[in-house]
Amino acid sequence: MTQTLVSLWADARKRLEAAGVDTPVLDARLLLEAGAGVARLDLVTDPRRAVSDLQVAAVDALVRRREAREPLSHILGKKAFWSFDLVVTPDVLTPRPETELLVEIALRALPADRPARILDLGVGSGAILLAVLWERPLAHGVGVDASTAALAVTQKNAELLGLERRIELRHGRWADGLGGAFDLVVSNPPYIPSDDIEGLAPEVARFEPRLALDGGADGLDAYRAIAPTLPRLLVRGGVFALEIGAGQAEAVLAVLQREGLSAVDALPDLGGRPRVVTGRRDGDAEKALGTGHAKH
Ligand SMILES: C[S@@+](CC[C@H](N)C(=O)[O-])C[C@H]1O[C@@H](n2cnc3c(N)ncnc32)[C@H](O)[C@@H]1O
Repeated sequence: MTQTLVSLWADARKRLEAAGVDTPVLDARLLLEAGAGVARLDLVTDPRRAVSDLQVAAVDALVRRREAREPLSHILGKKAFWSFDLVVTPDVLTPRPETELLVEIALRALPADRPARILDLGVGSGAILLAVLWERPLAHGVGVDASTAALAVTQKNAELLGLERRIELRHGRWADGLGGAFDLVVSNPPYIPSDDIEGLAPEVARFEPRLALDGGADGLDAYRAIAPTLPRLLVRGGVFALEIGAGQAEAVLAVLQREGLSAVDALPDLGGRPRVVTGRRDGDAEKALGTGHAKH
C-alpha cells in the first residue's frame, strides 16, 4: 500500500503512543517533517501526498530512536527556547519552557537602555544567558560550566545568534576564581536529589547529562556552593535569580538567608509552584523583583 504523509504520521503516532511517549501527536509530526523533509504546511495543504520508500525509511529511523525514548531535542538537534531555536546535544540539558520564567525575572532587573554585566553559572546550552543578551543589546555576559563539551554548545549557539562578541565562556566550578561586579547573577543549577534520578522519565534519566541533573543527596549542593559567592559577585543592589526544584523553596531561601541575602522571594511559575528564588545584594529593604507572591 502506498504511504501518504498523513498515513505515515498516523503510524508514527501509534508507535510513539505504544512506547509511552508523552506527546505522540506532536512528536510524530516533527519527526515526519524532519525525516521526510516536508514542512508543516505540506501536511495541512497536501496530506495525501505519496511518500517515497526513502522518505518512509528516514522517518522510520527517527521514530525508532524516539520509541527508545531518546529526547526529541537530541534527535532533531535543536529545541525552541524564548524566541529562537538552540542547538542541543547530549552534552547539555535540553532547555525547559519553565526556565523562561527565570529569563523574564532577569529582564525585569535590567533596564534595556543601560549596559550591564551578567553571570550565568552552569550555562549549558546558553539558554538563559543568550536570551537575556538577546533582549538587552547593551549587556555583556560571562557563562561558566564544569563541562567543556557543554561550553562548546554554548559557543555554537552564541555564534548562531550573533551574540558571540558579547559573551565570555569559562570552564570551571561555579564562581571559583571569578571576580565580581555583576549586575545580575543567574543560575539553573542541577537540583535533582541523586537517588531520584533513576525514577525520572527515560528521556531525562538515560539521556541527559548527569552533571546537569544531580544536585547531591538532598538536591541542594549547588545552592550551598553558589550562595556564599553571591555577595562578592554582585554589585551593590545587583540581583540574583536561581531556578529551584519542586519543594525546594524553603530550603534554598534558608541557604541564601544564611549568607545575609535577606531580600529573597520565591516566585511561582504559571502552575503556582515556586520556581525561581531571587533577591538583591545587601538585603536592600525593597523587594528585589516581581510581585512577591509566594513570599516565604
Ligand atoms: C540544569 S543545567 C542548566 C543549563 C542551562 N543553564 C539551562 O538552564 O538550560 C546545569 C548546568 O550546570 C553545569 N554544572 C554542574 N555542576 C557544575 C559546577 N560545579 N560548576 C559549573 N557548572 C556546573 C552542568 O554542566 C549544566 O550545564
